[in-house]
Amino acid sequence: MSATGSPKRLTPRRIQAMKGGTPIVCLTAYTTPMARLLDRHCDLLLVGDSLGMVLYGMESTIGVTLDMMIAHGQAVMRGARRSCVVVDMPFGTYQETRELAYRNAVRILQETGCDAVKLEGGEEMAETIAFLVARGIPVMGHIGLMPQQVNTSGGYRSVGHSAEEAETIRRDAKAVSDAGVFSIVVEGTVEALAQNVTASLAVPTIGIGASVHCDGQILVCDDLLGLLSEFTPRFVKRYDELGARIDAAVEIYADEVRSRSFPSEDHVFKPRG
Ligand code: KIV
Repeated sequence: MSATGSPKRLTPRRIQAMKGGTPIVCLTAYTTPMARLLDRHCDLLLVGDSLGMVLYGMESTIGVTLDMMIAHGQAVMRGARRSCVVVDMPFGTYQETRELAYRNAVRILQETGCDAVKLEGGEEMAETIAFLVARGIPVMGHIGLMPQQVNTSGGYRSVGHSAEEAETIRRDAKAVSDAGVFSIVVEGTVEALAQNVTASLAVPTIGIGASVHCDGQILVCDDLLGLLSEFTPRFVKRYDELGARIDAAVEIYADEVRSRSFPSEDHVFKPRG
C-alpha cells in the first residue's frame, strides 16, 4: 500500500524480476474506463501506438503523435492502480538522436506519470536505450516485427524464417538487453527463435505472436474482446465478440427510439412533491 492507501503499481524492476516465473500478463489500454477494467487482471498495461489504428482508424502507426500518446497515457494512469503502465514512444520521436529521445521520454514520464516508455528497434537503437536508462528512464524494448518500420520492412509479416533474419533478431535481442531494458516485446516471431531468445536473455520477453515460450504475453485488448471487425491475425485469440454484442444492443435501442418505447415511464422526470 502507498501512503495514500491505494495499492502500489508494479514497477519496471518488479516486472523484470518476474523473468522465468509465472507468465507476465499484459494488455494494451488507451482509456480510463478500460484501464479500470483491465487493471486488476494485468501486471502491465501498454498504452500502445496501435491506438492510431484501433481508435483513430489510421492505416498504420506512423501518424501517431507524442501529444496523442501523452493524452492517452494520462487517461490510462487515471484508471490504473496496480499494473505497471508503459507508454509507447511514437514514430519520429526517438530515432533521430538520443537527446531528442531523452527529451520526448521525459515529457511522457513527466506529463503522464507512467512507469516506463517503450520503443521499437534492435542494434540500431541500443545506444539510445543505454542513454535513456543511464539517465533514469525505464525502457521496454520491442524487436521482431516492428510496426513503425512497415514502410521499409515490406509489411506486417512474421519474421525470423531465414537464418539471416533469425541471426539479426538474436543480435537485436542481445543489444537491447545489454543496453538496459527491463523487458522486451517480441512480436510476430517464429516460435523456436522466440524460445531461443527468451532462454538467452536475463530480462523477460513479452510475446505477441511469438509463442507460449515467452516470459509473458500481450495482445491488443480490442482484438481479444472482438471489438475490431477487420482481419484478425493468426496469433489473436478472440475471448468475446463485443462488436457483435454492441451491434445487437444498439439495434434494440434504435428500434425502441423509433417505436417510442424508449424512454419509458421509468426514464422520465416527474414534477417533485
Ligand atoms: O502498439 C502496440 O499496441 C504494441 C503492442 C502490440 C505490443 O506495440
